[in-house]
Amino acid sequence: MQMKRTHTCDQLRPDHIAEQVVLNGWVNRRRDHGGLIFVDIRDRYGLTQVVFNPDRAPTAHAIAGDLRAEFVIAVRGEVGARPEGTSNADLATGAIELLVDEIQIISASETPPFYINEDSPVDENVRLQYRYLDLRRPGQRDNLILRHRVVKLMRDFFDAEGFLDIETPVLIKSDPAGARDFLVPSRLQPGNFYALPQSPQQMKQILMIAGLDKYFQIARCFRDEDPRADRTAEFTQLDIEMSFIDEEDILSLIEKLHVQIIDELSEKRLLADPFPQLTYAEALDRYGTDAPDLRFDMHLIDVAAVVDGGGFRAFDATLAAGGVVRALVLPGCAGYSRKQVDELVEFARRYDAKGLISIARNPDGFRSPLLNVFDEDRFNNLVAALNLEEGDLAVIVADTAAIANATLGNLREYMGERLGLRDPEVMAFAWILDFPLLEEVPGEDRLTFSHNPFCGVRPGDEPLLDTDPLAALSRQYDLVCNGHELGGGSIRIDHADLQRKVFALLGYDEAQTEAIFGRLLRAFDFGVPPHGGIATGIDRLIMLLRDTANIREVIAFPKTQEGRDLAQQAPSPIDAEQLAELGLDLIPQPDEPEAAPPA
Ligand code: AMO
Repeated sequence: MQMKRTHTCDQLRPDHIAEQVVLNGWVNRRRDHGGLIFVDIRDRYGLTQVVFNPDRAPTAHAIAGDLRAEFVIAVRGEVGARPEGTSNADLATGAIELLVDEIQIISASETPPFYINEDSPVDENVRLQYRYLDLRRPGQRDNLILRHRVVKLMRDFFDAEGFLDIETPVLIKSDPAGARDFLVPSRLQPGNFYALPQSPQQMKQILMIAGLDKYFQIARCFRDEDPRADRTAEFTQLDIEMSFIDEEDILSLIEKLHVQIIDELSEKRLLADPFPQLTYAEALDRYGTDAPDLRFDMHLIDVAAVVDGGGFRAFDATLAAGGVVRALVLPGCAGYSRKQVDELVEFARRYDAKGLISIARNPDGFRSPLLNVFDEDRFNNLVAALNLEEGDLAVIVADTAAIANATLGNLREYMGERLGLRDPEVMAFAWILDFPLLEEVPGEDRLTFSHNPFCGVRPGDEPLLDTDPLAALSRQYDLVCNGHELGGGSIRIDHADLQRKVFALLGYDEAQTEAIFGRLLRAFDFGVPPHGGIATGIDRLIMLLRDTANIREVIAFPKTQEGRDLAQQAPSPIDAEQLAELGLDLIPQPDEPEAAPPA
């Protein structure tokens, strides 16, 4: 009979000395020491050292000689104190060891394709293919444990606040707005498709119309977009919606939640509580992005007024064409070599900037191409505007506002990291408010929403929809943290007429509006409470709490950059019978050889 554990591998302490116990777990490491064999046995909870002594238990000792990494074993024995000088203060069980009387090998293991007992770097595809081995590693395990704790805290928090956890369907109607949908063909309605939800947005609004007042869900969402470090096709939101509330209610509730998460589940500290609030325009002007990392203060400086008309062609021409001239001061970088400055220029080109103009302030004076062009007064005024101190390097971009912001915003983040300004112990939550309701689609003569089509219009801005729609602000709020957008939401439009007007501005004709949003609009005819909500990215929050830059690290079975699930080998072809049942036929792909004709 298999020996069942009496304790986990993290439980035994000096209090247990002389007790008989059974441990079950995996062989983490085996060391043979002239007669004695030491094995660290591991389970989810921790490690315990077990000792096989040939004098104490010759049979067990003989079996231990065959043990290899990742065998699953059961050991029975007596808890003993470790001999003087051998206790391990880094291990919770480090003061004791188990003196084995009996062992069972429950399951053998091949040599694993990578070390589980070391945190050495391993190719990610190998890790994902053998995810069950990867998840045995303590770092990965701790990511999932923290994720569990955060979600548990969220559920308890919203329950205590009177919210109902309501599941919404995963097979829903396709909505061409937003990102690309994942589609699921219907067998019962051939030729028709479900979509997987990009978020439960419409359903949660309908729940408010249904009078459920406070909804939350830990919701799986699906977006068929190209993955990035903090973006993946299948992710999880904390999704909430409330009725009879305004912005302040949502902001304070979400702050309270995150303060509690940091307090109870993290060693990190908050940058500020209450969370700072910036307008969208301020965020772009100061940081070049609407998701700034506020852990460090370096900010963009507009120098247009100082450089305009100074005879530097790139500046004058850009300003004449309606562009901007903005700068960033990199502290302590005045000594950068030509090569290092060229690398910054290369960095800027990645964001389509035409170049970077630099000013270095060294102890022996300035180094800058502007010295030859600007008169002394103008140069000094520029230095004053930049507040350039000895040892600093200023970099200046002249371009469209979008390119200058993207370039300097990204350079700011990059240099913040390189100069060690991003304190890993800080969670810099902040709110971004006053977003524009609509924006232009670059290169096309049409408008799109800046967040989603259900965002409320800032009170008083409704008339602008008829006169100057791009000037209208929305009731959107974004939660940002350490340079990532962590959440977004809004107080919604709650009148069908206004909602129809917004759809019309987005270019939907009446028939399209009816076909896509008709059900929601019909619900608007039956008494709609003022309502609003937010969704935050749970994967992203765990990433930030665990200091990982890769979202796949915090998901048990993530998709690769190419959208594959290597643990399951999905997606995969399906057989002709399944296709026929769904009424589907495949168009051969150009790079795919056509199936060979039967012999
Ligand atoms: P939004 O699209 O801003 O809003 O999404 C909310 C939050 O979800 C997370 N997120 C993602 N995380 C990982 N991978 C992705 N591909 C991904 N896309 C989004 C982000 C983001 O801030 N229905 C609205 C919410 C609302 O208005 O209430 C919505 O989905 O952390």
